Amino acid sequence: MSHHSKRLKTMAKQSSYFECVNCSYQTVKWIGCCPDCKEWNTLDQISTFKTSKQAATISSKLEVHTLDEISMEEQARIVSNCHEWDRVMGGGIVPGSFLLISGDPGIGKSTLLLQISKLISKDFSIIYFSSEESLAQVKLRFQRITQENPNNNNHKNLFFSDHSTLNGVIEICKNKKPNLVIIDSIQNIINDSTNALPGTISQLKESAFMLMKLAKENNIAIIATGHITKEGNIAGPKLLEHMVDGVFYLQKEDQWQTRTLRAIKNRFGSINEIGFFHMKGNGLQEVANINQHLLEETKHAPGSTLVSSLEGSRPIFLELQALTVPVKFGIPQRIITGIDHKHVSLIAAILEKYLHIPLSKHDIFFKISGGLKTKDQTCDLGIALSILSSYFQKPLPAKTIALAEISLTGQIKPVYNIDIHAKECATFGFEQLIVAKDQALQHKNMALKRISTVHELLIFFPADEL
Ligand code: TYD
Ligand code: MG
Repeated sequence: MSHHSKRLKTMAKQSSYFECVNCSYQTVKWIGCCPDCKEWNTLDQISTFKTSKQAATISSKLEVHTLDEISMEEQARIVSNCHEWDRVMGGGIVPGSFLLISGDPGIGKSTLLLQISKLISKDFSIIYFSSEESLAQVKLRFQRITQENPNNNNHKNLFFSDHSTLNGVIEICKNKKPNLVIIDSIQNIINDSTNALPGTISQLKESAFMLMKLAKENNIAIIATGHITKEGNIAGPKLLEHMVDGVFYLQKEDQWQTRTLRAIKNRFGSINEIGFFHMKGNGLQEVANINQHLLEETKHAPGSTLVSSLEGSRPIFLELQALTVPVKFGIPQRIITGIDHKHVSLIAAILEKYLHIPLSKHDIFFKISGGLKTKDQTCDLGIALSILSSYFQKPLPAKTIALAEISLTGQIKPVYNIDIHAKECATFGFEQLIVAKDQALQHKNMALKRISTVHELLIFFPADEL
């Protein structure tokens, strides 16, 4: 630690230092091989003088304000009318915000942004900077996704540029003052004022900083794309997350090739908000009714339990599947996907302790149907019921959803936002909710099965009559 601070202190006097792109090792002198991670040619020059000068110019006038002096005029959001998109954005894009969309190469970022640009350009002006693909390629894609003649001149508010220098982009935006700017991708933006290669740490940080300034000072919303690099997130979008107003991941989560757009950070909306799209021949189509889609895939069988998990403001039905098999030899296996494996092990331990079911002598395989993932605690009860249902080889009652947490003491605990779940369950024809004994619930159109401890779970698996 002292070694590090000493290093930085000497660097403060310097106008620049070098940072390893791979491991963030810092040094005053350039060296070919990083002493820390042993990678070659990974050291990037970073100018300390320049960043402090920039920091001074971004801060506005040297004034302070009382609360009543601060205006709170909320500007109307930039709405696309693509519901999946608008919901994930928190109800539309806030003017002047700087957002980052990241995801693997080829996942559909450019496709999605082009579609959204087309929709938004009905009411707002947009400049789309394509630094990765030629304008001819973009036009071809536009034609493919809209199936219209791109020469029909119907999109007078939508402008394209293949300019890729940072200063050029800023200059164009200051002159044109569009409502929204797309930068596809930020990793390909060349920062003319540093010598580093595009996509390196220092370039990315500086580009993000300057774009943020552009957005705030000119009230231009900016969406930048960034792809996750092979080495994980090094020199990738992760680095920028703290510098922007919102971070969204476009991912392919499940076996149906559904693309999910998930809010990881959003200063203007709730996180974990999730939007679903299908990649079709003509671009990404929103899947408005994902729950319908998910339910069509589920089978009513031992080991299967349906739960509802809140992703952002939206309840999503998940089918939890468990399989318990007596251990043949050695240590019992816990093979779990879609949910934290410790969590499932914990619930298995609770069941073993209070119900005396020898799960420690059983392998447990556990997954969420379709390859989806969740972190929602409301699934606890569902996990327990799945395990028991597989253990006893008895299916749970049909058209039933389980919604509760389980404490280490074996108590079944109520969950928040139950009414949102209950409403969705009623819409999809569920007839019964299994909830905690003291669960408060306003929603009336649903039969409830109330339970207070894990002991009562056995009522769902009565012994066969002889
Ligand atoms: P793209 O938007 O270029 O991904 P990214 O910008 O995240 O790298 O998406 C490219 C993939 O999407 C490519 O494999 C082709 C496919 N695609 C379709 O299936 N249908 C379409 O209408 C379009 C435009 C692309
Ligand atoms: Mg792209």
